[in-house]
Amino acid sequence: MTPVAHRGEIVHFLDDPRNDDHALEYIQDGILLIEEGHVAACQSATTLLGALPQSTTVIEHTDCLIVPGFIDTHVHFPQVDVIASHGAQLLEWLETYTFPAERKLGDRAHATEVAEFFLDELLRNGTTTALVFGTSDPVSVDSFFECARARSLRMICGKVMMDRNAPDYLCDTPETSRNQSQDLIDRWHGVDRLGYAVTPRFAPTSTPDQLAVAGDLLRTNPGVHLHTHTSENRDECKWVQSLFPERSNYIDVYDHYGLLGKRSVLAHGIHLCQTEWKRLAQTNSTIAFCPTSNLFIGSGLFDLKKAEEIGVTVGIGTDVGGGDSYSILRTLNEAYKVQQLRGYNLGAKTMLYLATLGGAKSLNLESCIGNFDKGKEADFVILDKNATSLISRRTRVSQSIEETLFALAMLGDDRLIKSTYALGKLAHART
Ligand code: GUN
Ligand code: ZN
Repeated sequence: MTPVAHRGEIVHFLDDPRNDDHALEYIQDGILLIEEGHVAACQSATTLLGALPQSTTVIEHTDCLIVPGFIDTHVHFPQVDVIASHGAQLLEWLETYTFPAERKLGDRAHATEVAEFFLDELLRNGTTTALVFGTSDPVSVDSFFECARARSLRMICGKVMMDRNAPDYLCDTPETSRNQSQDLIDRWHGVDRLGYAVTPRFAPTSTPDQLAVAGDLLRTNPGVHLHTHTSENRDECKWVQSLFPERSNYIDVYDHYGLLGKRSVLAHGIHLCQTEWKRLAQTNSTIAFCPTSNLFIGSGLFDLKKAEEIGVTVGIGTDVGGGDSYSILRTLNEAYKVQQLRGYNLGAKTMLYLATLGGAKSLNLESCIGNFDKGKEADFVILDKNATSLISRRTRVSQSIEETLFALAMLGDDRLIKSTYALGKLAHART
């Protein structure tokens, strides 16, 4: 492969802007040089143009920003057809819409068609990596991994473990969930850019025996992730208390079975108490903040400031089908508004960080993706500052890169994504 130089306005993060004023690197006329799917250099055009290898192809991205691919830290691929379902909160929403839709993914042809559609949507929205729920049928995860591998994407997925409080047609058992999960780990974890997540749906749908199996799987397969939900909805929290009376709180249920840690991602965490916050921080566990979903299914307003103060890592998740958009930009827009309602002004730098390097750190993938450090995998997005007449007008009057980024996060959606590159190759181009 000949080297390719992408020229445009480059924005990425070297660190967390909440700890470091110089974390954002902005190169007004920059070059991102890609060799063999990886970042070979990221510098100003003045510095690099004269030093490019002779065979380099230069692609000019005029009036565009080049940013790292977005990272969705919590989403359900089987819920494509559940998106925008009317009028229910979590537990009723699961029974009415979600479980029947997930049943259909037992059919391999359907699962593949849904996985292809889902990945098309992610790429159309600039998302290049995601932590993804499958269904309880391992066929869904095989289909997903096959499609993601064919596109050279860095994706993490897992089979749902669920052995109670769900329809029989979706339930496994502690033993079948152990065998099916282990078989998927053996066949997929670490293959190309793929990773496995042990995925108990949430405490109410697993028996203590099954949660113990999830803990065993984590212990015996170092490097795999843990992916679940927690404290999303008040009725759910009460239900967990009644199902696990011997545990002191919701997080303690997961803690007891060894499910917390630096590769553990728990979606939502809206109704946590101080003890739970502390334990999440102590164990380096991550919360996926899913504002579109939290608003759409009426779950509540996540306390991001609390997470920052206590030192809990947070990623951004769309949580489709609970969320109503695959766009990380739309999700940042809602994140901003949710925090406004809590009296916290979320800054543009923090938002873009959460969508890129912060997402990578949430998933423990910062050595591979998240910014344009030399040697990282070249997943990036071209944002079109003239995507709509309004965006064009608003960005023209911006006084700083921060103002521009804020306007793009508030006004942007899939139209802003001119193209998406995965491992250096064009994976989506807007028509
Ligand atoms: N809690 C348990 N399952 C789910 C799910 O599929 N979506 C959401 N948002 N919450 C859940
Ligand atoms: Zn979810």
